[in-house]
Amino acid sequence: MTAPLRTGDPIVVEVALGERSYDIVIGRGQLAALGAKIAALRPGAKVAIVSDETVARHHLAAAEAALGAAGIAATSLTVPPGEASKSFATLERVCEALIAARIERGDLVVALGGGVIGDLAGFAAAIVRRGLDYVQVPTTLLAQVDSSVGGKTAIDSSHGKNLVGAFHQPVLVVADTALLDTLPLRDFRAGYAEVAKYGMIGDAGFFAWLEANWKELFAGGAAREHAIAVSCRMKAAIVGRDERETGERALLNLGHTFGHALEAAAGFSGELLHGEAISLGMVLAFEFSVRRGLLPAAEAERVTRHLAAVGLPTRISDVSGAVPDADRLMQLMAQDKKVKRGKLTFILVRGIGASFIAPDVDAAEVRAFLTEQLA
Ligand SMILES: NC(=O)c1ccc[n+]([C@@H]2O[C@H](COP(=O)([O-])OP(=O)(O)OC[C@H]3O[C@@H](n4cnc5c(N)ncnc54)[C@H](O)[C@@H]3O)[C@@H](O)[C@H]2O)c1
Ligand SMILES: [Zn+2]
Repeated sequence: MTAPLRTGDPIVVEVALGERSYDIVIGRGQLAALGAKIAALRPGAKVAIVSDETVARHHLAAAEAALGAAGIAATSLTVPPGEASKSFATLERVCEALIAARIERGDLVVALGGGVIGDLAGFAAAIVRRGLDYVQVPTTLLAQVDSSVGGKTAIDSSHGKNLVGAFHQPVLVVADTALLDTLPLRDFRAGYAEVAKYGMIGDAGFFAWLEANWKELFAGGAAREHAIAVSCRMKAAIVGRDERETGERALLNLGHTFGHALEAAAGFSGELLHGEAISLGMVLAFEFSVRRGLLPAAEAERVTRHLAAVGLPTRISDVSGAVPDADRLMQLMAQDKKVKRGKLTFILVRGIGASFIAPDVDAAEVRAFLTEQLA
């Protein structure tokens, strides 16, 4: 998972949202430029870095050094790693720490970590002093291609994930692809499911490119930056047109209705990572689309083949632990998504790169499909 450090010119992707537009800076070694970028964006601003203990062990010193080199005063706060930190208790700690560090309007919060830290620190930034600006420095593949872009921030409620939060866009995203060299392979793979998702949603050419180049992406070659840039470009374009998910942004949920139900059935434990659940969910979305006569079976098999090649689970039976039955999965989907008069909204496909929103899928049809799949 390691590759020599190259510091070339970064790839910059703009998220165009009028006054709230911002850049995503993608490249190996870009963390070193964080201080200079922040100094240019907010001259004289103080910074508070929020991270988790694991990420801090690997990368906090480098982040602090980058800020120090630009003469920026920074304080740091770390929370335990893992989804459990997206809680009211940890949010309170982060908010109090930001206030104690005298981070005020005009100053900046830096979220240094994966999706957990981005969601938690982003939400704290959204509410402390009625809104502080923040910078995302994503350190997982999932965060670099998905959670750091688009401004969704949240913590979890006892009723479910991401139920308390806000739309709050960052002012800058710095995705240093070298930070992924320390990410465990299993987490890298899980994030890759979201990369492949972009191809499946709307870019068949990108999917074909991934089939040919995924090994270089994992190994840390230039393919990694390219894949992250393509992913961010697609997410940025969709968010630019539909920031608050009233329409098209829902396409990003391909595989997520099935996937979330499987994740919930596994209790959001380490047994099944989000990306692993999404891999299964995308296979199910393709299979379900085949069942509806939307595309040839061979197209769905191609998706399954690629996800399996990178080592992601593609069959529910690949997952260890108790397999939920169709009724349980239906129950979990009903909790997760609005089921209106026995109808579910799904993201379906007419092929790789051709997804669409199907707002009125019959729950009975989904149940029959899941029963077949689990048999
Ligand atoms: N806001 C959004 O739009 C959005 C989108 C997708 C997912 N999410 C959220 O993102 C979260 C999942 O994010 P994640 O998969 O990044 O998980 P995560 O933040 O928990 O990171 C996964 C693990 O990797 C460790 N880690 C992170 N970076 C590392 C590095 N560079 N080297 C070594 N270890 C590292 C972390 O400590 C953690 O143990 C979920 O809470 C999900 O709800 C949000
Ligand atoms: Zn996802």
